[in-house]
Amino acid sequence: MSTATQRIALSAPWIDERDEELVLEVLRSGWLSLGPTGPRFESLLAAAVDAPFAAAVSSGTAGLHLCMRLAGVGPGDEVITSPYSFVASANCAIYEGATPVFADIDARTFNLDPAAVEAAITPRTKAVVAVDIFGYPAEYDALVPLCERHGIALIEDACEALGARYRGKPLGSHGHPAVWAFYPNKQMTTGEGGAVTVHDEREYELLVSLRNQGRLETSSWLQHGRLGYNYRLDDISAALGIGQLEKLDRILEARGRVAAVYGELLADVDVETPWPDDAEHVRSWFVYVVKLPAGADRPAVMRQLADQGIATAPYLPSIHLQSYMRDRYGFAQGMLPVSEDCSARTMALPFHARLERADQERVVEALRGALNAV
Ligand SMILES: Cc1ncc(COP(=O)(O)O)c(C=O)c1O
Repeated sequence: MSTATQRIALSAPWIDERDEELVLEVLRSGWLSLGPTGPRFESLLAAAVDAPFAAAVSSGTAGLHLCMRLAGVGPGDEVITSPYSFVASANCAIYEGATPVFADIDARTFNLDPAAVEAAITPRTKAVVAVDIFGYPAEYDALVPLCERHGIALIEDACEALGARYRGKPLGSHGHPAVWAFYPNKQMTTGEGGAVTVHDEREYELLVSLRNQGRLETSSWLQHGRLGYNYRLDDISAALGIGQLEKLDRILEARGRVAAVYGELLADVDVETPWPDDAEHVRSWFVYVVKLPAGADRPAVMRQLADQGIATAPYLPSIHLQSYMRDRYGFAQGMLPVSEDCSARTMALPFHARLERADQERVVEALRGALNAV
């Protein structure tokens, strides 16, 4: 196949021999779950995000669900979150019988607008799930005092943001629970997997019990002190996580370089590029999402790129307009105009740590051509 027609994937994990070695070690040990590798992974992760406790779980979704249990979310409660996110950040509230309430976003960062969050608070509000969308930190300086003032739990969905920094400190270090995800398109992967980092030992103990079928530290294997789940991360996945964390700095640097190349190549293309960092927000690059001009025919642009072997994705649809959300809650178009406009115009380009400049040039030329043609 000639270079000009080779497929350019949307994402790709960075797996090397060290990862293979660590995984093989666990396989050969025969201790595939609840062994010593999980805690080793957790210590490294806790150190990476500067949090005292990390509980590894089977997915980011599982982590978000457990955070609902930590916050005591239940039937009749409301949980405010962003419509411009992956569905899991809203679904976690529904799992516990609560109602998701969407507040609109800032059109530049795609993160929750704190004023909209404040306007959405009612006596039933139990928690806010703030999402660091596409790796860009949400507005914690506004959200933390707001939640404190109203006695509401703040949960950070940092699933897309490992390595990002807010006000000079890593996400995860700011005191409230943060949830991480390690699906293979993320900055680092464990295959499937996730984690919750917390700053309170009792919360950590509760997480450890909940992920392990509600077992108590003192119970024997078949005694269960509370309703729990099997949200454990196995040791094979944790071993891969160790390999990934060992090279996290290199991964993040490489992703930053790839993003910078896109920034340069897209300078004269008629799209909005991701909102830049400032003194308070340092993004960890998860995806590279551009916003097309209003009125551009996004499906046609995506089709043209697909015809040239270039994968793209319509990141992200607004959650309240997903069919199950409309059916369940009567949500409709027009409720969250900023999110809806972003959803109609944003698009993820191929992006990963080892994407080569020549491929990025092909992507940008194809995008330029498609925008001129539609
Ligand atoms: C913002 C956000 N929240 C939650 C999740 C859920 O993570 P997982 O797929 O590991 O369940 C993801 C993963 O795509 C995500 O991007």
